[in-house]
Amino acid sequence: MSARKIRLGVNVDHVATLRNARGGFVPDPVRAAEMALAAGADGITAHLREDRRHIVDEDMRRLRELPAPLNFEMAATEQMLDIALRTKPHACCLVPEKRTERTTEGGLDVIGGKKHLIPFVDELNREGVRVSLFVEPSIAALEAAVEIRAPVVELHTGAWCHALMLGETDKAQAEFDRLRAAAAACERLGLECHAGHGLDFDSARTIAALPQIAELNIGHFLIGEAVFIGLDASIRRMIAAIAQGVEGARGV
Ligand code: PXP
Repeated sequence: MSARKIRLGVNVDHVATLRNARGGFVPDPVRAAEMALAAGADGITAHLREDRRHIVDEDMRRLRELPAPLNFEMAATEQMLDIALRTKPHACCLVPEKRTERTTEGGLDVIGGKKHLIPFVDELNREGVRVSLFVEPSIAALEAAVEIRAPVVELHTGAWCHALMLGETDKAQAEFDRLRAAAAACERLGLECHAGHGLDFDSARTIAALPQIAELNIGHFLIGEAVFIGLDASIRRMIAAIAQGVEGARGV
């Protein structure tokens, strides 16, 4: 039996962060995306933030022209929906966004925000854009995602990865148990299960063993690692780590 394949979406936001630190045109996130695809990535992910702190509208337009799926991360606002409908990416991931945060802290409020989110998901579904909701690994959030009619959820792995980084073993185990339970619930609820945020080689290998995971979206660590070993090697090592996780789960 052939091994299950987990797709890797490479998030190129932080190539744009580096570019914007100086202004100008380099390093170019689209060149990074091309390299990522050549190294074996299955798609490109980019987050067009309201404040355009890294990816800008022109980057999205150029990323869309690449011959690979583009996962457009965005807040559920009218302006972003308008841009997404014009860009027509393969996929949209709806994320919460706060101006003052350094990165996407926590998942969407899918329970309190249900009424707000439904029209966005409906519109994207109608246009044939695959919609995912970036959510906390909680069963209540997944049930809400079903009511919102999203076909896909992306489980926020940030709390787990943060606990791992700090060596907080008990907390990390508890967070991983939540992720495992949420991934299993996705299957019961008919949701495609993705995951991301804060993943590195080790955590990607571990989470890849969960049989429901169909896609991982990874950015910051890969771009940081590229400083030391190059982007191509960074992505190839990540693909190998994910494959090891899948193989390990099969007991090979
Ligand atoms: N998935 C989503 C929905 C995100 O918002 C982010 C961060 O932009 C990522 C994945 C990737 O996280 P990281 O850059 O920490 O790998």
